[in-house]
Amino acid sequence: MGTGEPFDALMAMLDPSMLVVTAAAGGERGGCLVGFHAQSSIAPGRYTVWLSKANHTYRLALRATHLGLHFLDRDASALAERFGTLTGDEVDKFAGLMVRAGPGGAPELPTCRHRMLSRRIALLDEGGDHVCVVTEPVAVTADGPLTPLRLSAVAHLRPGHPAAERPHPATARADHPGRR
Ligand SMILES: Cc1cc2nc3c(=O)[nH]c(=O)nc-3n(C[C@H](O)[C@H](O)[C@H](O)COP(=O)(O)O)c2cc1C
Repeated sequence: MGTGEPFDALMAMLDPSMLVVTAAAGGERGGCLVGFHAQSSIAPGRYTVWLSKANHTYRLALRATHLGLHFLDRDASALAERFGTLTGDEVDKFAGLMVRAGPGGAPELPTCRHRMLSRRIALLDEGGDHVCVVTEPVAVTADGPLTPLRLSAVAHLRPGHPAAERPHPATARADHPGRR
C-alpha cells in the first residue's frame, strides 16, 4: 500500500542523523551511509540498522559477524558523500582513510569520535527494500559532544545503489578475484 507524499514529508521532518555502517567478509570490506537506524533495546543494549538489499555493504553484512557503526558529526559531509554515493562493488571506499580491523574484522574508522563495534545478532527481511539488522554493541567510543550530521544536509546525494537495484552476482568482485 502506498503512503505517498505525506509519508515522505513526515519522514523528512524527522531529519535523522547519519551513520556510516561498515562490514567485512571473505577478504572484502565495505561501508555505506545509513539514515535508517535506532536504539532498539535498553537492557540488554541493542542497536538496529536497516540495510538496502541493493548495497554491497548489505551483501557483506549477511556474512559478517560484526558491524562498525560510525555516527557522523556535522563536519563529516565528505565522509557521507564518499560512503553514500560510491559503491564497494566498484571502488575501495577506505582508500586513503585511517582504518583498522575491529572485532570480527569489522572496519573501524578511528577518526570518527562516536562509534560502536557491534555483533550482528538478528536479521529480519519482511519483504521491503531494506533488511533489519539487529546488533549488540561490544565496544563503544563517545569522545566529546556530537552534533550529528543530519539527512537535511545530505539529502541531495545520489546513492551509489538506488534501493530498487538488485545487483548480480552477489558481489561484482566475486567474479574478478584480482579486483580489490
Ligand atoms: C541520504 C542517504 C541516506 C541513505 N540511507 C541508507 C540506509 O538507511 N540504508 C542503506 O542501506 N543505504 C542507505 N543509503 C544508500 C547507500 O549509502 C548508498 O547506496 C551507497 O552508495 C551504497 O554503497 P555500497 O554499495 O558500497 O554498500 C543512503 C544514501 C543516502 C545518500
